[in-house]
Amino acid sequence: MDKILVHGGHRLSGSVKISGSKNSALPILAATLLTKEPCVVRHVPDLSDIHYMLQILSHLGAHVERASGTVRVQAEKIRSVAPYDIVRKMRASVCILGPLLGRMRKATVSLPGGCVIGDRPIDLHLKGFEALHATHRVEQGNVHVHATKLRGGTAHLRGKLGPTVLGTDNVMMAAVLAEGTTVIEGAAEEPEVVDLANFLNKMGAKIHGAGTSQITIEGVRKLHGAEHDVIPDRIEAGTFLVAAAIAGREVTLKRVNPHHLDSVIQTLQQAGFPVSSTKTTVTLQGKARPLALHITTEPYPGFPTDMQAQMCALLTRAKGQSSVTETVFPQRFMHVSELKRMGARIDLLDHSAFIHGTPRLSGAPVMASDLRASAALVLAGLKADGITEINRVYHIDRGYESIDEKLNNLGAQIERVKV
Ligand code: EPZ
Repeated sequence: MDKILVHGGHRLSGSVKISGSKNSALPILAATLLTKEPCVVRHVPDLSDIHYMLQILSHLGAHVERASGTVRVQAEKIRSVAPYDIVRKMRASVCILGPLLGRMRKATVSLPGGCVIGDRPIDLHLKGFEALHATHRVEQGNVHVHATKLRGGTAHLRGKLGPTVLGTDNVMMAAVLAEGTTVIEGAAEEPEVVDLANFLNKMGAKIHGAGTSQITIEGVRKLHGAEHDVIPDRIEAGTFLVAAAIAGREVTLKRVNPHHLDSVIQTLQQAGFPVSSTKTTVTLQGKARPLALHITTEPYPGFPTDMQAQMCALLTRAKGQSSVTETVFPQRFMHVSELKRMGARIDLLDHSAFIHGTPRLSGAPVMASDLRASAALVLAGLKADGITEINRVYHIDRGYESIDEKLNNLGAQIERVKV
């Protein structure tokens, strides 16, 4: 297991190229199961989560080739039972349920356990499959879904904590080959859902309304192969904007879609950071300390939960008292105890963190827990006095392609140590 040593106090400047989106690539790779024909997906980031997905596709019988950021998949003959030992490593594996149900009319996947950011139920996914006249049962930790015939229907997918991103993806992928028309009400509106819909439509699907809360899918008889460039990773981009806010002079992100970052950019501007953008770049000018903010995470286009930990890291040094309220994953505060080890002054109450800004943080040995919390600790270390040692770095490698190299190229001093 590697660990990362972040030497604080080095200013960041220059430009960094943002990788393809993990949360777009994962469902798009799963969607290649819907056709016997070859598919080509480009700008796939080199991450352990992607590696797990490619292992699952291969185990299911698909032919998978990867050459740097381009993946070729041909799922000519496939099985419908996913391998427990790989699926258990990545909760997002649940997004193979929809394409297997759509292609094979049946699927067996081990139930995703919970994780440090909270319980990860799939009740809304299963409710959506029921709307397509599929049945499901849970046996020995596996969820089995089956349909004699998939027929279109209306799926209401909004839960008590808002829409479900992978649930919307799963129902969309199951519906593309169903008989008749399916309407998803309360659909997730994330850019990654739109990217998946665009890929499916290139394969011959007939999907309208992706990016809004109502998506309509007209079933077709079969899908053909397609090629697709995955959209840039808006969460990686947001993470680097916060790095620039914490330790920057001036940092420019390249190959991004600024519209996917609207809420993050507006929030950083409210904290006092000048931000400018072009069609494919965003530039932020760092400064001494941020202004205090009150943030609440929301489904897209609101402030993303996947940026919550990173903003907490920034606000530990704000002038005044900030608050961060988590409405999507109310338990997602594993980073708080580690930030407090670095001298941050944070109180947790219900699903809010109340942050009393302090001028300085001090480096300390800290423990990574989930991929965004881990990134937040790296960001905090950039400005802390001394060295911050982050253990269990495999969490970061799940979601960030070479984050240490990219930050070092901007002027940080980060070492990766094999232990
Ligand atoms: C996706 O997870 C992302 N992962 C998450 O990113 C992201 O935090 C999340 O969407 C919210 O934006 C991928 O795309 C691979 P949800 P997903 O279903 O789809 C509840 C990262 O850091 N819910 O939108 O699994 C759920 O418990 C990861 O890259 C149900 O109650 O999340 C949560 O409170 C972390 N029943 C809320 O809805 C269900 O059936 C949103 O979850 C499904 C979800």
